Amino acid sequence: MTSNNDTLFARAQLTTPGGVNSPVRAFRSVGGTPRFITRAEGPYFWDADDRRYIDYIGSWGPAIVGHAHPAVIKAVQEAAARGLSFGAPTQGEIEIAEEICKLVPSIEQVRLVSSGTEATMSALRLARGATGRDKIVKFEGCYHGHADSLLVKAGSGLLTFGNPTSAGVPEDFVKHTLVLDYNNAQQLEDAFKDMGDQIACVIVEPVAGNMNLVRATPEFLQTMRRLCTQYGTVLIFDEVMCGFRVALGGAQALYDIKPDITALGKVIGGGLPVAAFGGRADLMGHMAPLGPVYQAGTLSGNPVAVAAGMSTLKLIQEPGFYTRLGTQTSKLVNGLSAAAKEAGVTFSGDAIGGMFGLYFAAAVPDSYATVMASNKDLFNKFFHAMLDAGVYLAPSAFEAGFVSAQHDDAVIEATIAAARGAFAQLV
Ligand SMILES: Cc1ncc(COP(=O)(O)O)c(C=O)c1O
Repeated sequence: MTSNNDTLFARAQLTTPGGVNSPVRAFRSVGGTPRFITRAEGPYFWDADDRRYIDYIGSWGPAIVGHAHPAVIKAVQEAAARGLSFGAPTQGEIEIAEEICKLVPSIEQVRLVSSGTEATMSALRLARGATGRDKIVKFEGCYHGHADSLLVKAGSGLLTFGNPTSAGVPEDFVKHTLVLDYNNAQQLEDAFKDMGDQIACVIVEPVAGNMNLVRATPEFLQTMRRLCTQYGTVLIFDEVMCGFRVALGGAQALYDIKPDITALGKVIGGGLPVAAFGGRADLMGHMAPLGPVYQAGTLSGNPVAVAAGMSTLKLIQEPGFYTRLGTQTSKLVNGLSAAAKEAGVTFSGDAIGGMFGLYFAAAVPDSYATVMASNKDLFNKFFHAMLDAGVYLAPSAFEAGFVSAQHDDAVIEATIAAARGAFAQLV
């Protein structure tokens, strides 16, 4: 029998490039037909054949309180009934800004935008505008959205500038972007020694989630903070993914390091399009209308999206929320690791808060190169075996996974039971 997913995928490809509105959804990395989702609730979603899956992508991060949480839905419905968008300021925007500043103390002022890409792109412009410098530093394997100067991979030499990773990005646009190795503090020291006074900003995912999950070492982030302070360079933590995921105050709370600017997204919109960048008030004062750095958005601070975000931010502050989330995520990763060991499959896992990484490798990777050395073919087989068993993992060996507050013991145990069967198919 033909699956409704196949029918929808064929139809989607007629009017949408590749049939999807964001490339990873197309299953290109793992092969097969993407599932078209019809509804979601708690830790589950259902596809067009009405098959239920335990969901471990959580909309790639936002669904931290579980799908369709009644309090979030109620807030959205009430806001929608008052009107969808005004293009004029609202009290809700003040409230969510105050909440963000309270939860992330390095953020004294914040500007709301609609996507993580906008947040990091605007943060870069701010850093360049405030310092009067052009050069930026990013790290191999970190993804910061699809702005031109960030779609860059390392050049041929260690301290040479990068090459575009997308057609349509002129070499000229990326010639100011230096791409260094994640977790390599010495390389960062060398780069600053060479050209520190020309570097506008360093942008980093302090817990990387776009090359699978890779933790920064404290030494790496501490060196970064010290060098940025020494050279007057703006330190940007891109916490679009890890913010409110690895801890209530984000990775900066875990590592106890204050960036100058933070980019946020995902969780702060609770599933609707809200992202933000914020930081030191003196830096944020460079933004229009106060200063010369231009940035704007028709739907920025949209009242319905802000209501979803605000209700989500309230829920994650309930006592014990992160302890429970962290416990469930660790149970999942420990259970999967034990199941792999029983089956004799080379595997390791890592978990921080509600984020996890699964690696078909003997040890947890600490860099882009070590992640890339993991066994992608085994992952792809595992992915499909899990999907067949009703568990939806990220459809790529190089993406992190996400647990929600609704992934209770029964859900985690069902996942581990499915994994036993899946690992057995790999040997
Ligand atoms: C760390 C990080 N920064 C930026 C982005 C871009 O966000 P968006 O997809 O909302 O544009 C992402 C998206 O996954 C991300 O993980």
